Amino acid sequence: MSDLENRVVDPNEQLDDESEELSLRPQKLTEYIGQKEAKEMLEVYIKAALKRNEALDHTLLYGPPGLGKTTLAQIIANELGVNMKVVSGPAIERSGDLAAVLSTLEEGDVLFIDEIHRLPRYVEEVLYSAMEDYQLDIMVGKDSQARSIRVDLPPFTLVGATTRFGDLSAPLRDRFGVVLRLDYYTVDELNAIVSRTARVHETKIDLNASIELAMRSRGTPRIANRLFRRVRDFADVKNNGEITIDICKEALSKLGIDNDGLDYTDYRYLRAIVETFNGGPVGVESLAATISEEVSTIEDVYEPYLLQEGYIKRSNRGRMATEKAYNKLGVKFYKGIFA
Ligand code: ADE
Repeated sequence: MSDLENRVVDPNEQLDDESEELSLRPQKLTEYIGQKEAKEMLEVYIKAALKRNEALDHTLLYGPPGLGKTTLAQIIANELGVNMKVVSGPAIERSGDLAAVLSTLEEGDVLFIDEIHRLPRYVEEVLYSAMEDYQLDIMVGKDSQARSIRVDLPPFTLVGATTRFGDLSAPLRDRFGVVLRLDYYTVDELNAIVSRTARVHETKIDLNASIELAMRSRGTPRIANRLFRRVRDFADVKNNGEITIDICKEALSKLGIDNDGLDYTDYRYLRAIVETFNGGPVGVESLAATISEEVSTIEDVYEPYLLQEGYIKRSNRGRMATEKAYNKLGVKFYKGIFA
């Protein structure tokens, strides 16, 4: 098993016990905690679409993994009172696969495409006319018999989600009328999310335990909810199900999560820069090879939070560890020529 598979704080992985969480997710915009700006915009656009009895404009949600893009897409569909079909970019290999999904849509429905930046380009091209004119151009027949037929689609809303806004092609990006960025959550917001999760699970949790979980969840609800489940296991076995600060600290320490929410893999990553590459700058490929992780995993999962919290800096020469990273590792920091 790779470290990533082992990782309790990997926001990319949607584990089995999270299917249970699906039913626990907020269903309405007012129940959705945080992302104030995105929520305010959506509220207006959804109301306007309902008032005009039109499909909502195509909407792109982007930001780091685990911040609630799928949840928000489902809320959009709920608020519009329509059905949502869910597909994942890399799972659609042929344009026929996309055509098949598009042709099942009913008027006003939401089509959610997760990881939309990973749609193959020739599949993406089918989307252009579907998004712009609600028309589907499909090729039928072979060789000299090949011809394109045009099928009308009902008005629908494409909600695309991506962790990599920059990887989207310009023609696709330009076809989204609404573009919303999701940001890391504050400790207060995560505390509210953990408290809500505890209520839904009918679990007693002390306020300071809930804040502790919030502080160690890297600004990410998916991680907060996952840590909650692990801590609840400890509480069930050792404390009649009540989550106290002591149980919380004990469980998190056993899970290898430090006071700031960094885990074993973050340490390996920071250590590689500081110890193997003298603090950097070092290219992401060299780092990936050193810690045996995929470049895309490092860029999408580990680095965004380490960057935001100021453990690393990125320049065109590569990644560099900051003084904060040295302090975290207990290594003396010398301001070098690159710092
Ligand atoms: N569960 C996961 N993300 C959430 C959010 N933003 N608000 C409420 N519950 C959540």
